Parts: sequence; C-alpha cells; structure tokens
Amino acid sequence: MKKGSIVRGLAGAFLAGCLLSGCQAEVASSGAARPVADEAAAGKPAGTARAAAGSPAAAQPAPDAASGGKPAGGAGTAAGPSAAAAVPAGSEERTSVEQPDSVLVLVNKQHALPEGYKPSDLVEPDVPFLFKEHLEKRLMRKEAAAALEKLFAGARQDGIELAGVSAFRSFSTQRAVFGQYVRQDGEDKARSYSAVPGTSEHQTGLAIDLSGRSGACAATDCFDGTPEARWIAEHSYEYGFILRYPKGQEALTGYQYEPWHIRYVGVKAAADIFKQHLTLEQYLGAL
Ligand code: DAL
Ligand code: ZN
Repeated sequence: MKKGSIVRGLAGAFLAGCLLSGCQAEVASSGAARPVADEAAAGKPAGTARAAAGSPAAAQPAPDAASGGKPAGGAGTAAGPSAAAAVPAGSEERTSVEQPDSVLVLVNKQHALPEGYKPSDLVEPDVPFLFKEHLEKRLMRKEAAAALEKLFAGARQDGIELAGVSAFRSFSTQRAVFGQYVRQDGEDKARSYSAVPGTSEHQTGLAIDLSGRSGACAATDCFDGTPEARWIAEHSYEYGFILRYPKGQEALTGYQYEPWHIRYVGVKAAADIFKQHLTLEQYLGAL
C-alpha cells in the first residue's frame, strides 16, 4: 500500500471516530502528507490545506456580551492581557485569560482559556452550514450568532452565498483535532496552523470558519481569492467580525494565513482593526 493510502486510511478512521463521538471539527493537512485535502489542494498554492469534517472535502475527493473599543496601541483591556501579563508573540510562555466571556478576549499561543471553559450562551446561528446535522460545531455565543446572521444576509444581498464550516470547538474536540494534525504533520508544522487545546479561538464561541455554499475549497488554501473570500475580507468588519489570521501577519498572530477564519469582536473594534490594518494582538496592545 502506498504511503498516501495509509495516511488517507488513518485520516478517514479519525474522521469516522469524530463523527461518532461528536468531535466535529476541521481536520487540516499540510505539507507532504495531505490525507484529506490533497485533492482539493492539487494545483493550488503551496501551504496549509485543510478539510472540514462533515464537509464535502471530508467525504469526497474534489472539494473540504457587549463590546467596546480600544484605541490601537492601547495598553490592553480588561479582556485582553494586562500590561503585566503581556508576553512577546514568539514566546512559549502562556498565561490564563482573566475574562474569557468578554467579546474582546485575546486567545492565542500566549493566552489560554481557563481549563474546562465553555461559554454559557451558545446558540445555533440560523445560517446554512456545509452539513445538515445539529452538531457542536454549529454553535456560537448569542451575540456573535446574531451578528453572523446579519453578515450572511448582507453577503446574500451582494450575491454572495456563504456557508458555515466550523464554529465552536470544545477543549476535548480541539485536543482530538490537534492530536490528529500532530500525527499527520509533526508537532512543529501542526502548531503553525492548529491551536494547542485551550488556546483555540473556536473554544470562545466567537470564531467561525466560513466557505462558499458548495464547500469547494472549504478551509483550504484555494479559498483565497474566491469571491466569497474577498467579500469576507472586505465586509466582515461591518458586522463586528475580523479576519483573525491575515496574510503576512504570521509573526504577530502565530498562525498561517486563514482567509476563512473570522472572529467576532463587536462592530466598533472590528471597524478600528479593519481600518487601521491591525491584528487583534496589536489592537489589544499585547505586543
Ligand atoms: N486554526 C486555528 C488557529 C485554530 O486551531 O484555532
Ligand atoms: Zn478557524
């Protein structure tokens, strides 16, 4: 059996296990081993290629509280790191965030959620997803879900039909996903595109991965440059969302470019971040 087939079999087994156990998160692949999304990534720019469990790519070869603002360069907010807690972006040192329920919470490689954190106001946004089942990964916090519904309606008015790929992920789901990526790509590579459990924004209920309605290029590099990706990049801020991992900002965010991952921060903060071309780390003064 060729190596690719073995890897593909392992990834398939993992996804099947996830589907049965309720682990419904994106599964990424990148580099040499592309167990799920290699077909989707074929002929596309090199880099991370992802496929979302429950998305067409996973099953088929072809397509995968109130907010406030803070001026740029501020010294952090109650939600973000305090000046004392600020840690350099490249650091392995990690602190526990103090206000995980704030819509301006900073969760990244240096700022982890408290162990076992799960938002208390998770709801299902009334928007289409790439899967029909009512799974954990449909959930978002109430305020973010309402904003997402408006975002989808705005996109539709512009002729853009979006779909949800993966929103909330519990600590245990992230642990399963990250573990799979480590087995697939090795820990160093996995850390460049997937969060260590406890440090994923998906656990806040404020983040979601989006795609077009067909699911083609869902959470894969080939999503970049599509009409849907362009609309998300240009308009998400109007609804209180930011593109959390912008191109060229990997050293600040700690992650590869993800044109599909948006994070709710509230309309004021999102507009400031968008118009000043900031990362959330910069906006919260965490760097
Ligand atoms: N892909 C993003 C960084 C996550 O795993 O939360
Ligand atoms: Zn994401």
